[in-house]
Order: sequence, then structure tokens, then C-alpha cells
Amino acid sequence: MPTPMAPAERVIRRPDDWHLHLRDGAALAAVLPHSAARFGRAMVMPNLKPPLDTLEAVLAYRERILSALPAGMAFEPLMTLYLTPHMKPRTIRDAAREGVVAAKLYPAGATTHSAAGIDDLEAVRPLFEAMQAVDMPLAIHGEVTDPSVDVFDRERVFIERHLRPLMHDFPSLRVVLEHITTEQAVHFVSDGPQRLAATITAHHLLYDRNALFAGGIRPHLYCLPVLKRARHRQALVAAATSGNPKFFLGTDSAPHGRRAKESACGCAGIYSAHAAIELYAEAFEQAGALDRLEGFASLHGPAFYGLPPNEARSTLRRGPWEVPKSYPLGKADEVVPLRAGEEVAWRLLPSSPAAGHT
Ligand code: NCD
Ligand code: ZN
Repeated sequence: MPTPMAPAERVIRRPDDWHLHLRDGAALAAVLPHSAARFGRAMVMPNLKPPLDTLEAVLAYRERILSALPAGMAFEPLMTLYLTPHMKPRTIRDAAREGVVAAKLYPAGATTHSAAGIDDLEAVRPLFEAMQAVDMPLAIHGEVTDPSVDVFDRERVFIERHLRPLMHDFPSLRVVLEHITTEQAVHFVSDGPQRLAATITAHHLLYDRNALFAGGIRPHLYCLPVLKRARHRQALVAAATSGNPKFFLGTDSAPHGRRAKESACGCAGIYSAHAAIELYAEAFEQAGALDRLEGFASLHGPAFYGLPPNEARSTLRRGPWEVPKSYPLGKADEVVPLRAGEEVAWRLLPSSPAAGHT
């Protein structure tokens, strides 16, 4: 018997993005409309230069994001604090009081704009204690920076070397392992307590490391943590489509100018905000799990962060469209988006004004 076609249209609660880089200035103004068209809220990463490691800096950035939002677009930035070695626990408490939703741990040197991060987790135990006391979740870039560890093993080693002890030492700290890329991370999160969750990007659901070298080196598919083997991608798809509320959407959309990517030392980051929910729909359809998309994209994240899901609805329709070869990124630069010049299989229908609120 032929398998019945899945319906060509899906209505889901408006989703949220639990890991997003919006940058600043002209780049912020250029990329923000892509995210605001798709997501009611996004957890905005604090890896600006200088890092957002004071409450004042975080709140000022929030204001700049809101000012850059085009009139008529509804979008709520959820702010994060960048943990630095000299931060005082009081900063955590003040940030929690002001509604900052999480603090972000970058191992120093692990990724783009992470030089100000943490070298020694032992030295910042008072910050973790303060977070635990005010129930502020810790969002972690989970890769070791030890140069002797193979780049494809850095997440797996981080889990054993740092995350397992951290979970043990802070028994009520809530933790999000961000942009997971390996079957080891999937198992660690699945087997862990309820206070442990993970975000998964669209690109790690759709691509494995072969794509990085398809016909030549592909700088626009280079991100951190780097794409892994097919086996790991399959484990991520299984986790995302499982219905397990510990796994939720975080695009890690990370725009960089074309020149910074197409370079002898190209930087890490994939831009996916222009088609984010559409790409997740593709991944879920490929897995035969479109009925699980709403949980992953719109329900599990708010539940973990103790927020209500969005009231508005989003309509996705199957039908290909071609992604532009680039988008402007401020006056003098451009960003090459994921799938540039290629097709995306789903489109997001424009929301009616009534559905425009988050
Ligand atoms: C991110 C960036 O460019 O800010 N890059 C990336 O490859 N994901 C930083 C990060 O989240 O690691
Ligand atoms: Zn990121």
C-alpha cells in the first residue's frame, strides 16, 4: 500500500530559539528580522566584544535589540550573562532579579569570541553556587580546549572531564548542554536528571562532516562544535524527534561576514536564521516525525525555563523555495546563509496581524 502523504501544511505554536547570536550594530539590524519573523522569543548569546559580563551591559544590549526590531514585529529577546573569571556572585543574583534567563559558560578559547571565558571551572565555583541558589540555569558550550584532544572528540571529553563532575558537585544546578553534536551527549542528557537538558541545531540534524568537504572545503558549513560523523547525526535526529522534553530547539545561527569565513583561517559559525524553522521542518519530515516538531520547537524549551509557550500560531507549508546566495550584513559586508543558492523544502507563511504577537 502506498504510504499516505503527510499533510502539506502544519500549524504549530509559534516557536522559540534557545540559542541565537544576534551580534550588534548594523549586523544586528540586518539579521534580527529573520529571527523575529520565525520565533516569538530567542535566548541571545552574550559573546560580543567586549563580552556581556555585567548586568548593565546585558540590559543595554537588550535595549539595542529592541530598538533594532522593525516596527510591527513582535519578538522578545531573553538575555544571558557571559561568565568571566573575575565575576562576583552578586552579579548573578542581580541578573536573576532583572530577568536574565541564564548564564553562559564558554571554556576560554573554545569558540568565536570566547577568549574572556573560563579556564578553570574550580575557580568559579562560587558563581555556580550562586546560580544554584537563585535557580538560574547554566548554559554550556561543552567542548574542552585541550589542544591534545582531537577536535572531533572535544564534546565527548568535556562531558566526562567536566560536566559529569559539575552535575555531581552542584546537585540542584539546572544545566543546558548547548548545540549537542554527539551520541555521547544524547545519552548523557537522556540518562541524566530532569534538571539537565540540551539544545540541537538544524544544521547538526541535517548535515554530517562529509558535507564540510563535499567537492572541496566548505567554509560556510564550519561551526563549533564541528559537524560529526553520520552516526552522531542520526543520534541527534532520534533525540530531537523522540518527544523527550529534555531536547529543544536552539539554532546557534551565528552570522559572520563573507570575508571572515572565506579566508585562510575562516571563523566558526553557520547562519541559519533566514530559514531556521523551515530547516527543522525538513529534518523532522525526513525522520517521519513532523507531529513532534511542535514539542521540540515550541513547548519543551519554555517548560524547561519555566515560561508559558507562545499563544500565537505559525503555519508551515511544504513547497520549495530558493535561498538567496547572500544577505546584506551591514553596509559593507554580506553573510552567506545555509543552503545559499539551494532549495529549502518548507516555507513559513506570513502570520496574520492578529497572530503577530508572541
Ligand atoms: C558561534 C559564534 O560565531 O559566535 N560560532 C559557532 O560556530 N557556533 C559561537 C558558538 O556558539 O560556539
Ligand atoms: Zn552559539
